[in-house]
Amino acid sequence: MPGLTIGDTIPDLLVDSTHGPIQIHDFIGDGWAVIFSHPADFTPVCTTELGKIALYAEEFGERGVKLLGVSCDDVVSHVEWIKDIEAYTPGCNVRYPIVADPDREVIRQLNMVDPDQKDSSGLELPSRALHVIGPDKRIKLSILYPATTGRNMDEVVRVVESLQKTSKLKIATPVNWKPGEKVVISPSVSNEEAKGMFPQGYDTVDLPSKKEYLRFTNI
Ligand code: BEZ
Repeated sequence: MPGLTIGDTIPDLLVDSTHGPIQIHDFIGDGWAVIFSHPADFTPVCTTELGKIALYAEEFGERGVKLLGVSCDDVVSHVEWIKDIEAYTPGCNVRYPIVADPDREVIRQLNMVDPDQKDSSGLELPSRALHVIGPDKRIKLSILYPATTGRNMDEVVRVVESLQKTSKLKIATPVNWKPGEKVVISPSVSNEEAKGMFPQGYDTVDLPSKKEYLRFTNI
């Protein structure tokens, strides 16, 4: 993804949304945020995604994560579209704000432009981009999907869990990790340090190289 990427500070844009004007850094505050873009209002995959995200809003809230959608159409269109989203996904209430971006300035600055999609007047459209922003306003993780592939919200919750845990301890989460499973100790931690850092103990995997770098612990 050229342009804005992990490690970068999210631009402090003033955006228009279904909740009125939002200053992005104030919106994030001291917590975390997930900012996710959609190609356009009244499109099928987007309608399924926004409803599912609304169903997950409590899970994100419990983790101190605010949600912010981005779709290029105007606020009036978003408000009409929300009626369809809520009708399609029973039990969902779209309470998170959806940014309007008719000039495409937001998607350009947030690096969410789809190189292959244009609207009927030749203007850019967003891809299915998603940035997870930490309390320091820096991008901790980005995913980029094309318009034709809907995202998996279980995966977004899973990566938020991983990001939050690995920001507090010198650990990393292995392949297909799920909350509650063992984590690995970061390679920067020596065995001596690991004994103090992880009093619960850890298991070192015996590998052909005899290098002791794959160490699992419970947290
Ligand atoms: C959709 O949301 O379904 C969609 C939007 C743009 C292109 C293809 C699919």
